[in-house]
Amino acid sequence: LGVGLADMLRKQYGTENVILSDIKKPPPNVYSSGPFVYADVLDYKHLRELIINNRITWLVHYSALLSAVGEANVALARKINITGLHNVLDLALEHCLRLFVPSTIGAFGPSSPRDPAPDLCVQRPRTIYGVSKVHGELMGEYLHHKYGLDFRCLRYPGVISVNTPPGGGTTDYAVQIFHDALSTGHHVCYLRPDTRLPMMHISDCHRATIEFMQSPECQLSLRTYNIAAMSFTPEEVAQEIRKHLPHLKVTYNPDSVRQTIADSWPIRFDDSNARRDWGWAPAFGLEELVADMLRSVREKRTDEGLPVR
Ligand SMILES: NC(=O)c1ccc[n+]([C@@H]2O[C@H](COP(=O)([O-])OP(=O)(O)OC[C@H]3O[C@@H](n4cnc5c(N)ncnc54)[C@H](O)[C@@H]3O)[C@@H](O)[C@H]2O)c1
Repeated sequence: LGVGLADMLRKQYGTENVILSDIKKPPPNVYSSGPFVYADVLDYKHLRELIINNRITWLVHYSALLSAVGEANVALARKINITGLHNVLDLALEHCLRLFVPSTIGAFGPSSPRDPAPDLCVQRPRTIYGVSKVHGELMGEYLHHKYGLDFRCLRYPGVISVNTPPGGGTTDYAVQIFHDALSTGHHVCYLRPDTRLPMMHISDCHRATIEFMQSPECQLSLRTYNIAAMSFTPEEVAQEIRKHLPHLKVTYNPDSVRQTIADSWPIRFDDSNARRDWGWAPAFGLEELVADMLRSVREKRTDEGLPVR
């Protein structure tokens, strides 16, 4: 998600003023789009050096292992999602940075209200991913209240984007289905057809993040907000895709790890506080999302010389 957010921020603040970082080699288009540096969130001293040398003022902390990958490697998820976050929190506090950390629908669990999940309710997630995200929400808010850290956090729904290959989350199917629809015409879904989850188009997700980061502190009654756009099931998104590609075939082969995770997550998000406090409003519903994704995936495949249905 970081690349698209950096693009949007660079349009507003200037290319040179937004630095992307990762521990992975950037693809050519990312490398040539603006400043890029290697930064491992586990290396506190190096992060500090980057902050000081570049006079950093805002930090957007996206590094994480996502839900399904985290379950497969709990020790690494704990390290990156919790130890890495502690480094970032300490640095933000020490250097007076405005800090954004995304949370997720995965910060809720089977004992949370699911339809809708409000901002403030029981949070007992059953994944290491969710546990680390709740920890992040609480640590950030604690440091805000105790020391005035300008911590801001949005709970993202499943984010649908053409450029980001699915990163091992539970909502990945909703990206993969577009690629399959335009290549083989057949998608094998790892969730049951009626699994409803909150989802959002990536441009809404980025816009929400920037608008929230730009909001004056006095408008924020919370430091962690739900944001919502739509909720759909695999069956519903497939049906919408069939309006464009009638021959799409979907077979269902539920994977027990991801199905159990999805069944513990909210069906819908209540984002009324975000709408009231800082004016959040999504632009994409299911119809717009499907039309845009099919157009973008088609364009991408054509550019890459791949066949398109
Ligand atoms: N994608 C979604 O649908 C979604 C939904 C809710 C919240 N989020 C949150 O948004 C953020 C970004 O998600 P994403 O989908 O882009 O995930 P992703 O898996 O695509 O990207 C995570 C990045 O973290 C990097 N990383 C891993 N270990 C690192 C380390 N030690 N130091 C520095 N970087 C490291 C990886 O190289 C990767 O580029 C995450 O915090 C995630 O929890 C994403």
